Amino acid sequence: MTLDVVILAAGQGTRMKSRLPKVLHLLAGRPLVQYSIDAVSPLVAQPPVLVIGHGSDAVRQTVGNAARYALQDDQLGTAHAVSQAQSLLQGKGATTVLVMYADMPLLRPETLKLLVDAHQEQAATLSLLTMISDRPRGFGRIIRDTKDAIAAVVEDAQATPDQKAIRELNVGVYCIDSGWLWDHLDKVPVSPQGEYYLTDLVEMAVSEGQLIHAIRLDDPAEALGINTRVHLAEAESALRQRTNRDLMLSGVSLVDPATTYIHPTVRIGFDTIIEPNTHIYGQTSIGEGCHIGPHAVIEDATLEDNVYVGPFAHLRRGAYLESGVHMGNFGEIKNSRLRQGVRMGHFSYIGDGDIGENTNIGAGTITCNYDGKNKHKTVIGKNVFIGSDTMLVAPVTLGDGSRTGAGSVVTRDVPPGGLVYGVPARPPVTHKKET
Ligand code: UD1
Ligand code: CA
Repeated sequence: MTLDVVILAAGQGTRMKSRLPKVLHLLAGRPLVQYSIDAVSPLVAQPPVLVIGHGSDAVRQTVGNAARYALQDDQLGTAHAVSQAQSLLQGKGATTVLVMYADMPLLRPETLKLLVDAHQEQAATLSLLTMISDRPRGFGRIIRDTKDAIAAVVEDAQATPDQKAIRELNVGVYCIDSGWLWDHLDKVPVSPQGEYYLTDLVEMAVSEGQLIHAIRLDDPAEALGINTRVHLAEAESALRQRTNRDLMLSGVSLVDPATTYIHPTVRIGFDTIIEPNTHIYGQTSIGEGCHIGPHAVIEDATLEDNVYVGPFAHLRRGAYLESGVHMGNFGEIKNSRLRQGVRMGHFSYIGDGDIGENTNIGAGTITCNYDGKNKHKTVIGKNVFIGSDTMLVAPVTLGDGSRTGAGSVVTRDVPPGGLVYGVPARPPVTHKKET
């Protein structure tokens, strides 16, 4: 069986009350639409077709060539949206089309695969995911006949009070035989709301006696659809719980998962301990046996093994801490490499720096890396002792084994083994002995 995927993302998302298209709102730091694209990518050889409309340029720019595109100029409903992909896909060989919505970021790839496999095994015309929930949140209701077979999906807006009480809901993921789909899409009737509902295909298939197969979702959290910013916050929390649980089961200790904010893109090794209220974002990778926080913020940084990052530390993009680095409280590091065994105990800022092995950075040391126009580099060698409150005015290089006195303002390079102090920093005056 070959599979095509159509993801619907053309709606404005009116209920978000936003100038940004709904699918570009961020969940754990990434646009919503990225989640559906990632979820289907293991299933297909070709990129999915993304149906876009509102904010189509911005969506295209964000997603790039991870998708093919079909434009829906007017949002006339989900069936109409799918039909925009017809000319791209019909007759190109795929026997099945998987249709889903871009506003359901928590669906797992495994769940989608389950549906696709069952659809194939059953040789069904149409398969869909359902779930049981006491909170319908505007979802379509699954209508079953007296033999418990699926008879229809009724949209919330059209449901009678009896139907509204139904607890089985339409998740919004479908596998459809492609020949049948392209044959029937333009026969979907217009609803009293003036929209063409994809869900009407179910009743059409039933009336033809086609085989319909339903799979029930175990974990309703997967079907959290985003229609409002309240839903977005709920999804953020659900995704956080999922990420934190996965991390703990993979060998990372979270002292208080309820106040630990780690994006799913982050990688963390065995026996690392994360203290409460720590935020770890983006393309961050942390090795084994590290100790982080509390109250640390880490973005797009790399930490090797056995790194210690203390309270209120801030690691920004491009911070690279080699194994055994010790960073105390209230430090900030950006775009800098701290080599093995560097110690930076208290209140320091290192930007655009390269700090050699076993160097000690005294309290309150600052790289003055920005001159108002450009950023400059600070290079510090091995076994250097930087005195407390040293200002390193970049570009500047300090040789191996050199030292600076407390309160130095270093404006010129220091040779290996050299000592400088004062403002501006200079070597000590050596008095020649009278002979
Ligand atoms: C839809 C389903 C409902 C299901 C629910 C689950 C229909 C008719 N209803 O309702 O049964 O329980 O999802 O989340 O399908 N879109 C377009 N073009 C359009 C209209 C919508 O691309 O013309 C896109 C939207 O951008 C969105 C998705 O389709 O990503 C779903 O649309 P939405 O309006 O959110 O549908 P629901 O009311 O949630
Ligand atoms: Ca929705």
